[in-house]
Amino acid sequence: MQFAVLTLFPEMFSALLGAGVVKRAIENRYILVEPINIRGFAKDRHHTVDDRPYGGGCGMVMKPEPVAEGIRYARKKHPEAYTVLLTPQGRLLNQKVAQELAGCKGLILVCGRYEGMDERVSEHLVDDEISIGDYVLTGGELAAMVVIDAVARLIPGTLGCEHSAQEDSFSTGLLEYPQYTRPRSFEGVNVPEVLLSGDHGAIRQWRRQASLGRTILRRPDLLMGQPLTTGDIEYMKKLQQDIKTIIGKHSTGS
Ligand code: ADE
Repeated sequence: MQFAVLTLFPEMFSALLGAGVVKRAIENRYILVEPINIRGFAKDRHHTVDDRPYGGGCGMVMKPEPVAEGIRYARKKHPEAYTVLLTPQGRLLNQKVAQELAGCKGLILVCGRYEGMDERVSEHLVDDEISIGDYVLTGGELAAMVVIDAVARLIPGTLGCEHSAQEDSFSTGLLEYPQYTRPRSFEGVNVPEVLLSGDHGAIRQWRRQASLGRTILRRPDLLMGQPLTTGDIEYMKKLQQDIKTIIGKHSTGS
């Protein structure tokens, strides 16, 4: 997968590209990330990339011409790529959207700065707009890095262990089960016995139930419309029964 990133701060990307899974994925040629400086497409002597907003108001707006030139340049290099503007006005990134983007034949990520991008860029020059959350960053660069990181780990080969992308939080539709490593006992807290048992069926069941329990407590919204097995439903009924018993005991005791 090839990522072209249009930005006014290409140097910000060295943090992502120089460490960990992403660095290894680049070295092994599973992905290629090319930050492109939008300022290089500004035509005037001062390489101007922003201007005052029509209608007045604070701050500056990114001029459309250098961004448009940059997008055209990236499209010429990657004709099949999907162009995404990072903006708080976009659709929210989640694992499903990351999977969708991982299926694209290349991504051109456009990062805004200042008070925003001239509307004609978002309206006419990009295929999609994505937000990484309901908060406002000083620019799209961190959001683009989040997208690259989330998408890169879904490209076959990048994680080394194919299993991990399939098992992690959200890919199963549930939060991930708890993980443990050595020592068996840490500050008085033991690793659950079942994980030491070598009984793979029991471990699978424990992990599924731990995922379910965690999702019910922390993110019940994720369970709506989620395919659940009869085993899942039975486990949830048992939890429900346990909760009823505890509540019953407390109300008769008070
Ligand atoms: N640019 C500024 N804030 C952003 C956000 N939350 N998501 C994507 N791009 C942004």
